Amino acid sequence: MLSVAGEVDRGKGVWMRGRWESTELGGVWQEIWRELGEVVRTPSAAWRTPVVATSGDDGGGRIVVLRGVCEERRELVFHSDARSPKVSALRRSPWLTWVFYSAESQVQLRVRARATVHVGDGLAKGCWLAVPEASRANYGTAGVPGSAMAHPFAQQYLEGVSERNFAVVVTEAIGLDWLWLRSRGHRRAGWDWNSREWVGTWRTP
Ligand SMILES: Cc1cc2nc3c(=O)[nH]c(=O)nc-3n(C[C@H](O)[C@H](O)[C@H](O)COP(=O)(O)O)c2cc1C
Repeated sequence: MLSVAGEVDRGKGVWMRGRWESTELGGVWQEIWRELGEVVRTPSAAWRTPVVATSGDDGGGRIVVLRGVCEERRELVFHSDARSPKVSALRRSPWLTWVFYSAESQVQLRVRARATVHVGDGLAKGCWLAVPEASRANYGTAGVPGSAMAHPFAQQYLEGVSERNFAVVVTEAIGLDWLWLRSRGHRRAGWDWNSREWVGTWRTP
């Protein structure tokens, strides 16, 4: 049961923390997926720009925008340039970890997942149609992301913007670790996917 009564009027920070008050694993679980679903639609939300850490390279981490969420399919989605080092890393090893954090609520969520990269298929084409015109140019740079340039304005763009460098990375969650730092005692819980269902437990913070 979520206990938010009496806290909603005392400022956004208190309200946000109140949403995590459940002492039932199911309540925390529900709140996690509700929050993930909501941040996709809220540009200013802290959880909208998590870190994604890959394992197939130097263990690199970087910020991405959370673009899609589906609890039923255990999916979290981001978009990227298909030529970027992270996408190459995911092609070598599909395992990654998402790290979400909100300074306001003091909640961290880590999600272990397996990635599938979509380029040029039906899914990628469908997502491309929804990419705003102004953002499409980001996928049309002549240089590969990360390659050296002579000066800050040396960026060149390919003729005609197309979706050929546009990658949709769909990740399938296999483990969640939730941590809430709070002055009255930290709380932590985790869930692992056992091929049939999620198995959750409280964890020592
Ligand atoms: C606020 C913010 C949002 C970003 N969103 C994305 C994103 O959705 N996809 C992406 O590939 N890179 C995104 N980036 C850039 C990455 O953090 C990273 O610098 C870039 O993708 C190159 O990463 P790589 O060299 O590890 O492949 C974002 C950066 C910031 C600061």
